[in-house]
Amino acid sequence: EHVPTASIAAAPIVVASNRGPVSYRRDADGSLVAGRGGGGLVSGLSSIEREAGAVWVCAALGEGDREAARAAGRRLDPRDTGGHRVRMLDIPPGTFAAAYNGIANSVLWFVHHMLYQTPLEPVFDKAFREQWAAYEAYNAAFAEAVAEEAAEGAAVLVQDYHLALVPGLLRARRPDLRIGHFSHTPWAPPDYFRMLPDDVAGQLLRGVLGGDRAAFLTTRWAEAFAGCCADVLGAEVVRDGEGRATEVRFEGRATRLGVHGLGADGDFLRERAHRADVEERMAALRAQIGADRRAIVRVDRTELSKNIVRGLHAYRRLLEEHPQWRGRVVHIAFAYPSRQDLAVYRDYTAEVERVAREINSAFGTEGWEPVALHVKDDFARSLAAYRLADVALVNPIRDGMNLVAKEVPVVSDHGCALVLSREAGAAAELGDEAILVNPYDVEATARALHVALLMDPGERAERTKRLAAAATALPPARWFTDQLRAL
Ligand code: G6P
Repeated sequence: EHVPTASIAAAPIVVASNRGPVSYRRDADGSLVAGRGGGGLVSGLSSIEREAGAVWVCAALGEGDREAARAAGRRLDPRDTGGHRVRMLDIPPGTFAAAYNGIANSVLWFVHHMLYQTPLEPVFDKAFREQWAAYEAYNAAFAEAVAEEAAEGAAVLVQDYHLALVPGLLRARRPDLRIGHFSHTPWAPPDYFRMLPDDVAGQLLRGVLGGDRAAFLTTRWAEAFAGCCADVLGAEVVRDGEGRATEVRFEGRATRLGVHGLGADGDFLRERAHRADVEERMAALRAQIGADRRAIVRVDRTELSKNIVRGLHAYRRLLEEHPQWRGRVVHIAFAYPSRQDLAVYRDYTAEVERVAREINSAFGTEGWEPVALHVKDDFARSLAAYRLADVALVNPIRDGMNLVAKEVPVVSDHGCALVLSREAGAAAELGDEAILVNPYDVEATARALHVALLMDPGERAERTKRLAAAATALPPARWFTDQLRAL
C-alpha cells in the first residue's frame, strides 16, 4: 500500500534505534503479549517526550514483533509502547539476522568493547562480506523510514552501533534534517578499530560523520572516535583550549562532537522500587540470603563485556582468602539471557552457570548456598536486590556507561558499597565514592569485595548518598533535551 509521503512526513523529532521500547511474544493461549525492551539504551530513551510528536523508529526483533508490526501497519498501539508513537520496521529475517547478529553484535560490539581474544579472532571472509551487505541494507531501511517520518527541518536522533551508516544515508536523502548520532557503547581506540577492513572502517566513520553531531557517553569515547577519524580517514580534528576534541572536519563538512552522560531516572526508580511486587521479591530474597548474612549483588545481561565469570572467580578468591566470610555472605547474581542466537553468548551463559555451581559445591554447606544465580529476567526482582544489597559488583571489561552502577545507590535502603570497574563510563562520574578495580585483575577485585564488606555502615550510607546524587545529576529527560538543543 502506498502512503503519500507528504501526508505523513510530520514528525518534528524522530528517534531511530534497533531495539524499541516494547517487544512482543506469543503467549501460551496464542495471543501477542507486549513487554518492556531491555538494555541501557531503552532505559535512557523511555523518557523522551511523548507529547511533542516524536516518532520512534525501531526494528522488529523476533517473530512476535514481526507479527505485531504487520498487524499494526504504520504505528504500534500506544498502550503497548508506554505511550510512544512507535514505527516498527519489519526487516526481512535473513537481512536482520545478518546485520544484527553478524555485524552489529559479533563484529562492532566486539570491536568497541575490545572483546576479541584468541581463539575468538575476527575473520573478515566471504561470509562477513555478505553480512556487511545486509548491514547496509538494514541501515538503508532505517534511513528510508526516518526520511518518510521526518518533517521539514526535523531533528533526528540516531542511536548506537547498529545504525552507524544512517546519518550519512539520511543526509543524502534529506539534507534539510538536523541529524545526530549517539553511541551508547565505548568507541574503540584507533589501533583496535583498524582491525576492521579498511573500506568498512571508513564507511562506518563516514556514516557517523554524515550527521551534524556525533555524541558519546564520556569524553574518553569521543576522543577515541576523533582519533579514529584522524587515523583512518585523515580527517582534521578541531580542539578547544583544553585540548579536547570538539569537531571533526572531513570533505568540506564539519561534525560537532558532544558528550552527554546518561544518568539514572531517580523519580521513576524510587517510585517503582516501592511497589508491592518489589516488596514481595525482597521478602523472597531475604529468605534466600538468610538472617545475618551480607549480600553482594550483581545485575547484568549475560554479556561477555560484563565480565561475570571473573566476578565469580573474585568471589571465590574472597571465600578462599578470607574464610570469615564463609557462611556470612551470599552472592546474588542476576544474569539475564541476552543474544542467545550467538554461540559465543550461549557458551558464556553455560560458563557462568558452571562456575557458579563449582563455587557452590566447593564451599556450600547445609543451609548456605554461596552463589544464588538467577537467569530469568525480572525487573522487580532486580530492584528488590538493589534495595537490600550490601555490596554491588559492577566489573565490566568495558562499558559505555553502565546504569546498574547508577541505579543501585538511588534505591538502596541502608547504603551499599559499590565495587566498580574503572573501564565503565560510569567510573568517570562515580569514581570518587566507588571502589574502583581493574576488571581483569581477579585478585584486586577480591580485595575490593573484602574492603566493601568491611566498610563502616555510616561511611557506606554517606557514600551511597553522594553516589545517588552523582548518578541522578543528568536524568534521562535532560540527556535527551540537551541533545535536541545542541542539534
Ligand atoms: C546495549 C546497547 C543497546 C542494546 C542493549 C541490549 O545497551 O548499547 O543498543 O539495545 O545493549 O542489547 P540487545 O542486543 O538485546 O538489544
